[in-house]
Amino acid sequence: MIARTRLLWAPALAGIGVVLGLLSGGCARDMTHLNVTPAQPKHAASFSNGAVAADHRAASEAGAEMLRQGGNAVDAAVAASFCLSVVRPHSCGIGGGGFMVIFVPADERGVERRVVINYREVAPGAVGPEYYTGLDVADGSTFGVHASGVPGTVAGLLHALEHFGTMDRREVLAPAIRAAEEGFIADANHIEAMENIRGKIEDDPARLAMLGDLWERLYKSGEMRIGDRVQNPEQARALRLIAERGAGAFYRGDIADAIVGVMEEGGGPITREDLASYRVRRGEPLRGSFMGHELLTMPPPSSGGIAMIQIFGILERTLDGVELPARGSPLYTHLLTEAMKHAFADRAEWLADDAFVEVPVARLTSPAYIAELASRVDPERTLDDLFAYGSVTPENAQENAGGGTSHLSVVDSSGMAVACTETINLIGGSLVAVPGFGFLMNNEMDDFTTVPGAPNAFGLRQSDRNLPEPGKRPLSSMSPTIVLMDGRVVMVAGASGGPRIISGTSQVVLNALLFGMRAQRGVEAPRVHHQWTPDRLQFEPGSETRALRRAMRGFGHSTDETGTVGVVQAIYVDKHGWKHAASDPRKGGRPAGH
Ligand code: GLY
Repeated sequence: MIARTRLLWAPALAGIGVVLGLLSGGCARDMTHLNVTPAQPKHAASFSNGAVAADHRAASEAGAEMLRQGGNAVDAAVAASFCLSVVRPHSCGIGGGGFMVIFVPADERGVERRVVINYREVAPGAVGPEYYTGLDVADGSTFGVHASGVPGTVAGLLHALEHFGTMDRREVLAPAIRAAEEGFIADANHIEAMENIRGKIEDDPARLAMLGDLWERLYKSGEMRIGDRVQNPEQARALRLIAERGAGAFYRGDIADAIVGVMEEGGGPITREDLASYRVRRGEPLRGSFMGHELLTMPPPSSGGIAMIQIFGILERTLDGVELPARGSPLYTHLLTEAMKHAFADRAEWLADDAFVEVPVARLTSPAYIAELASRVDPERTLDDLFAYGSVTPENAQENAGGGTSHLSVVDSSGMAVACTETINLIGGSLVAVPGFGFLMNNEMDDFTTVPGAPNAFGLRQSDRNLPEPGKRPLSSMSPTIVLMDGRVVMVAGASGGPRIISGTSQVVLNALLFGMRAQRGVEAPRVHHQWTPDRLQFEPGSETRALRRAMRGFGHSTDETGTVGVVQAIYVDKHGWKHAASDPRKGGRPAGH
């Protein structure tokens, strides 16, 4: 049994102070003096002015180009996001949706701004709670015209630019248009996506037909190789229209006509009215705290913010009075796992779009409730009864480790920060290409509870609160997060990877705040994932995990190996203002800045 004495917490806190000091000082001081960065791998870099960490180098460069031209963090994020639509077409794009958290530091009048922009896809007007159970189509919520929500990305990005950016629409769209016209080089992730999509279409001519010319355009009909050039003049055309005419080009013009044309041909639900009535929702971030830091993260319909606040709160309490265990140690991994199991059980039971159903956000994130969850954690053993975590019937479903989605983090020279996560859901989304405009429609409808009681493609069991309704937004795991200390940004992070977004982002933030790991090491370090159901603790392959896995079985966990636990892009800001950025090597991104 762990000795729970407050005194033991003091050296742990002192240790944390030391590592935070290293995080915020050390090397950066030297770099400030020498004005150089030490040798770093390609996926990490430090910048004195502003930094962008996306999961593709071209997108990071697109953002950095805006910063170099005098643009702010939102200009950079919007440029990078549009560029991702071109260079990560299987992950996110103008056929999808996303969330953006923005922090604007205090101006000369002391006015500071904290904002979230919710441009998640919405259920079309024809889609009610029984739409998918009544559908005579196999996999209707994952493939084909029934799977798509009304896209929000174009509205969201242009809203952010108009209200928080400084640059012209044409300027921020220029790098994306260039990437689409001149092309980009296929990397390993592009080829992995091709293989994933090949697996979904090879025995299904109807799915291949939905992809149409885009299968040839993006993947040379399955013959694309690393190093080949990918051009997408059709998406360049869409982006030019958006640059010239704004969001109306997408929601009411030629692009809307093309989307509706595909829907009408396949009997899908999205109409002209659905597109024309799409609106972003703007609000305030969900706020949490961890060891003297303030977290700004995403409220519902994201589950990420609530889950992270619970995970951090449970850990803070279960570590109280304990000498801080090493990252990757059996005790730390067990406590982290228990925290994740509680957070995912609450996700299943309570979370959904709070514009449509009551979600007890204040209660779920209250210190009293989190203390109660922490008190249920046995530091020596996992709880054998899954109902001890939540009352929704757990179901051991198959889980899809993959996932589309893309996260980018930005901090500019003024200290303004953006955390932005966008998705078309699974790799390749619904596999429905919009003819003439070179992009894929999302399959975000599968993030709803499409069949009550059944898990979704990520193996997530969700409640009836998350049933589809016209205009409702599906529950998400996207967790864009900004960490502040004394009103200053110290970290920006977020991830892709379905529910692993939550576990991946949490662990990278904890690596920094608890263990003082800087961007590169904190992002590289192996991670674990548990989503309550399926009841499996999953490990990324890595040297440290074999012994750890044995130890975790000793705590009563069933263990498993998985591919990756999220793909995280993070930036740490040290006390000298240097931005240390890392794009996760798991997807091959590279940060940029100046
Ligand atoms: N589509 C993945 C998510 O939003 O969680």
